[in-house]
Amino acid sequence: MASEKLLKELNDQMNFEFLSGYYYMAMAAYAANEDFNGFANFLIVQGQEEYTHGMKFFDFINDMDGRATMQTIEEPKNEYGSLLEVFEEALSHEKLVTSRINKLMDMAKEENNHATVSFLQWFVDEQLEEENSMKTIVNNLRRMEGHFQGLYMLDKELGTRTLEPIE
Ligand code: FEO
Repeated sequence: MASEKLLKELNDQMNFEFLSGYYYMAMAAYAANEDFNGFANFLIVQGQEEYTHGMKFFDFINDMDGRATMQTIEEPKNEYGSLLEVFEEALSHEKLVTSRINKLMDMAKEENNHATVSFLQWFVDEQLEEENSMKTIVNNLRRMEGHFQGLYMLDKELGTRTLEPIE
């Protein structure tokens, strides 16, 4: 079992993961509209992955005898001026997720809730990966400065991403 306060924060994070998926779909729609189908694919897969993150919280809340509740999903940012702006936004979003997971981890540790600490460790590791992957794309896009050949190559590479099975 977890405290009501901890269960509420876990539930808020479940909703935030679903919201993240919605944000990435808005980014994917921009990329698809610009005919960067590889970038769009990468962002769609990212959105699908966020859904699996939300489901991990959903299952854990149930395992802890809590009740998952769905909240209002706000309209994401839909307008972008460039792929660089998209990935800068993605990186800053992932940094926000990391800070939320860290706060949750602190709370679980304060409550000596070992099951929640163990559950959240997966997300701590995942956030390191997600921030790094977004940072790499931002740096590549900055170096390319909009040159088409580089964008074309990166688009091809990002088009190969597929959804990994949930652990
Ligand atoms: Fe589930 Fe990208 O954080």
